[in-house]
This record gives sequence, structure tokens and C-alpha cells, in this order.
Amino acid sequence: MDRSLHKTIVKSITAVIGKKKHQLHEPLFIGNEINYLKKTIKENLVSSIGPFVKKFEDQIKKFTKTKYAISVINGTEALHLSLVACGIKYNDEVFVPTITFAGTANAIVYSGAIPHFVDSELETLGVDPIKLERYLEKVAIKKGKFYFNKKTSRRIRAIIPVHIFGNICQVDKILKIAKKYNLIVIEDAAEALGSFYKKTHAGNFGLVGCFSFNGNKIITTGGGGAIITNNKLLARKIKHLSTTAKIYHQWEYIHDAVGYNFRMPNLNAALGSAQIENLNKFLKSKRKLFLRYCKEFLKINDVTLIKNPKFSKSNNWLNTIFIKNSSIKKRNKVLSFAQKKQIFLRPIWKPLHTLKYFNNMPKMKLDIAMKIYKSCINLPSSASYFNSKK
Ligand SMILES: Cc1ncc(COP(=O)(O)O)c(C=O)c1O
Repeated sequence: MDRSLHKTIVKSITAVIGKKKHQLHEPLFIGNEINYLKKTIKENLVSSIGPFVKKFEDQIKKFTKTKYAISVINGTEALHLSLVACGIKYNDEVFVPTITFAGTANAIVYSGAIPHFVDSELETLGVDPIKLERYLEKVAIKKGKFYFNKKTSRRIRAIIPVHIFGNICQVDKILKIAKKYNLIVIEDAAEALGSFYKKTHAGNFGLVGCFSFNGNKIITTGGGGAIITNNKLLARKIKHLSTTAKIYHQWEYIHDAVGYNFRMPNLNAALGSAQIENLNKFLKSKRKLFLRYCKEFLKINDVTLIKNPKFSKSNNWLNTIFIKNSSIKKRNKVLSFAQKKQIFLRPIWKPLHTLKYFNNMPKMKLDIAMKIYKSCINLPSSASYFNSKK
């Protein structure tokens, strides 16, 4: 490997985005954000009641072509609430990639279930369906209608495929496996607003799909999330549970279940509503940035840029390079050199099964995840770089 690879990589990045201080991903406010926020204050509707919640939910439905959308306080609780609403219970096992944000697996634990870690593939960085199927053939046993883990005797109940950095995972193959093994599919599309698989928007493949609108996402509500589904009963249940399971009454406080206070405030929805109006512009500028990085990194032998596989269209939320024959030491050399130049690159998450509190959870062999961990680096990817109206 080229001993000055760290310098070559940083040079390629600055060739695309210039030599100045760069964060990994910054929000872009070029539309009605201030107007809408002012409106919520003027109307004294900043909290749980107000027109922007419905407006934002309608915009999400329209963009994703989904029948129902429920906005909530963040992506982690969108996943948690989805798991509860889909009937995931104490001691059920839920497959989740070890390469994802901690919130994905934390949500499984909040619901009382057990994360069961699975490996990822290099192409999409998402769940490896071939490995998953082979693994299930070994570890799953059918009792009646359901499948159980031979080793733990727990029911294998669901899978959370994650569209890593906006790259759609191999949805068709994963859905086929889920059908065979009677698994509920909850899509973690936290990073994938604006990503499509064969012309269908992310989040529409599972029983539900979850988004995050945290400050670093393609659009932001400050903090926030949403759940989409095409199932009317489930949508009602999710909305009900997200609003403390309160039954409408003129004055009484009546709740019919242990609900959650997860609804998105009007103030945050106002910001989201203005942001989503410009989502297509953000997608365009992100695509341009991705193509510029592609051109630049083609020149380097030992580095490849993670690309959308043919079957999908990524939102290019975060651009990711893969360093061939890498090690943690080599990866860190790139990170620290870039940091000295005020370019804040980020490694991929530490695979979750290596975190102390997840160490005893069930898992398959996770060798590709470890390879991804030591080889991948995220590049500055804000929508502002190639947006003409700043
Ligand atoms: C893959 C993934 N899942 C879940 C989440 C959780 O979203 P939030 O930060 O809004 O709770 C995030 C975002 O940070 C994420 O990147």
C-alpha cells in the first residue's frame, strides 16, 4: 500500500470540496424555515397541538408514496414504538446488523427483546442475505407456525434491515427470507429519506419503516423521526401509542394502555415541513457531490467509493470510501491527518457486538462487519457543497 495514502486521500477530498474547515454533515436552511417557525410562535402553537404536524406527515406520505405517516420525537423511538406496535415481546429475538447506529439495537432492548447480530456485505454495507439464510438453516427450528433459536430456545421474531448511509440493502432477498421464516420486517430507514429500490421509496418494504430527522440527516427537525406504513390498523395503533394512548374526551384524562409521549411537537414539524420542501434540491446537490467524489477516487488504486448497486438509487446521504487491505492503524492515520487539516472525517460505527453491553447477545460470525469497520471512512457530505442557493 502507498505509504502516503493518507495524504492522497485528503488531497482528493479537498480537490472536490476545497481547503477549508469541513464538518461531516451540516444542515442546510434555504427555504421557509424561519417563516414557519415564526408562525408557530405567533400562533402560540409550539408544542403538541398545531397544523404543522399534519402538514409534515402529509408531506412525508406524499414523498414516500405511503398511506400513513406518524411523526415522533426521534428515530430511535420510531424504531422502539414500531417494535412494540408490531407485537415484539419480552425475550423475542430480533435480527439486526452489527454495523448500525447503537439506537437500532437499543430500541430492541427497550421493547424487552434481544438483539441477534448478523453480518453485513461489502456491496451495500447492509445485511448479507446469503449469509443470513445459511445461518438460519443452521440455527432455526420450526415449532408449529414459528421459528425458534435452537441454542437459546427463544422465538426468532423479527428483522431490522438498515439502509446504511442511504444505500438500500438487498431488500428482495431479505424479504424472501423473512417470509420463509415468518419474521416481521421493520426497516431502519433513518438515513434513507430520498432513497429508492426499484422505484419504491425506502421504508415501504417492511410492515413499517422508520426515519430520523436528527441534525445530521438529509432533512432535519432539530430532533425527530417518523414511522411510515401502509397498514391502517397499525398506523392507528402507532399514533395512539405515541400520544400516551389517550382516548379523546372533552376534559377527562382517559388512557387505555401504557402509551408513550413520543409525538413530534408542532415547532419541530414546522422546521421539517420547510426542509422537506427542498428535499429534491438536497438530493440533486448530493448526487453531484457523489459523482465528483467518484471521479476523484477513481484515480486512487487502493481506495474505492461505496456505490449504489444497480437495483437501487441512494440519497447519497454520506459518501463512504473503502480502503483496500486496511487496518485500524492505517484508517486512523487518515482520520488524524485529515483532522489536522480541519476536515472531520468519521469512521464507521464500532460493530455493536463489540460493545460491552451487547457482548453476550446472540450472533453469527461477523467477519465482514469487522472488515468494514477497519476499512471504511465517511467523507464530508453536506448538501450545501453543490447547492446554488446557499
Ligand atoms: C441507522 C440509524 N438508526 C437509527 C438512528 C436513530 O435516530 P435518532 O438519532 O433520530 O434517534 C440513526 C440516527 O442517528 C441512524 O443513523
